[in-house]
Amino acid sequence: MRFKTLDDADLSGKRALVRVDLNVPMEDGRVTDDTRLRAARPTVDKLRAGGAKVILLAHFDRPKGKVVPSMSLKPVVEPLAKVLGAPVAFAEDCVGPKAREAVAALKSGGVLLLENVRFHAGEEANERQFADALASNGDLYVNDAFSAAHRAHASTEALARRLPAYAGEQMRLELDALDRALGHPERPVMGIVGGSKVSTKLDLLKHLVTKLDKLAIGGGMANTFLYAQGHDVGASYCEKDLAETAREIIRIAGQNNCKLFLPLDVVVAEKMAPGAPARVRDPGSIDDDERILDAGPETVERLCRAMNNSKTLIWNGPLGVFEMPPFDKGTLTAARHAAELARSGKLVAVAGGGDTVAALNAAGVSADFTFVSTAGGAFLEWMEGKALPGVAALAQ
Ligand code: 3PG
Repeated sequence: MRFKTLDDADLSGKRALVRVDLNVPMEDGRVTDDTRLRAARPTVDKLRAGGAKVILLAHFDRPKGKVVPSMSLKPVVEPLAKVLGAPVAFAEDCVGPKAREAVAALKSGGVLLLENVRFHAGEEANERQFADALASNGDLYVNDAFSAAHRAHASTEALARRLPAYAGEQMRLELDALDRALGHPERPVMGIVGGSKVSTKLDLLKHLVTKLDKLAIGGGMANTFLYAQGHDVGASYCEKDLAETAREIIRIAGQNNCKLFLPLDVVVAEKMAPGAPARVRDPGSIDDDERILDAGPETVERLCRAMNNSKTLIWNGPLGVFEMPPFDKGTLTAARHAAELARSGKLVAVAGGGDTVAALNAAGVSADFTFVSTAGGAFLEWMEGKALPGVAALAQ
């Protein structure tokens, strides 16, 4: 797909409506992780440098079309201004007179944040009139929210069809990295998919085994695969009703020459508690009261060797209960190994989705990965091979 980028735009004096993702973690009205705020900066900087008036559109949480004061974007204004190194004005509505007046007061190079677009039902309904109302405040549209691009909402989809539309800098980075990892990767390409449930990643696994040369399955979902192969998994989390689906995925992998890596050994404990006494077991020798909580050392060693023999790695989901030592070991060891290979230029390592970023941060290796996506659901849908409406609407 081809997109217009900000390098193609005449920005001077233009009102740029910029869709960003400011859906940041917040506790007691304070932003606890500013990754997404920092991700917005390159686009805002570029627009300001070009003399545009920057009008930020974003959602926060899921207010379902109503004004919910606890889901206001107001608490984001100060942290955002700090990250941008520039004052940020705020309007208490994203359409109507309040938005119009705030936009009219904006000078070239200025930044304005409009209130949560999801306070209006027209946003999630991708409604024409609402998109028209948003569009009336801009001369051009920039989508910099890859992480919201799986939603066909007015500010991510319909709006792109009403104004000259451009991909922002973060959007560009995400799309380039994902293309390098799965679209046109340097081969062999390996995937690691972890996390607890097969049920939430069925489409993902079925798609990946048709695309990758190797796929390692870890975390709780590996238990379902072990069970499907006839192993007793004791008291482990396991979606037994998905055993046939797991066998189907193994079959599709075989048909597509994708080598599957299932655990050779596992770390078990009777309790899932920090510091619980842990043992290493073969999949065939797990007691009834034991739970699988991490990948075993032999499994992790084999994964590391497989990475050594790969050119590209795409990673989603932890290999074990990484929030709880000693069950963090498998994830941390594999993540550090991937980071080391990426740092020395031997591996393109791309990661994203949900818990993955937290796991890489815990391992202290995010900065060494080639790219870590800020997206959760959008990263997964993209990895599943689905078209993302917010990206499709930008295509030229
Ligand atoms: C996210 O946090 O993944 C995005 O901002 C999308 O949010 P949503 O799942 O509420 O649409």
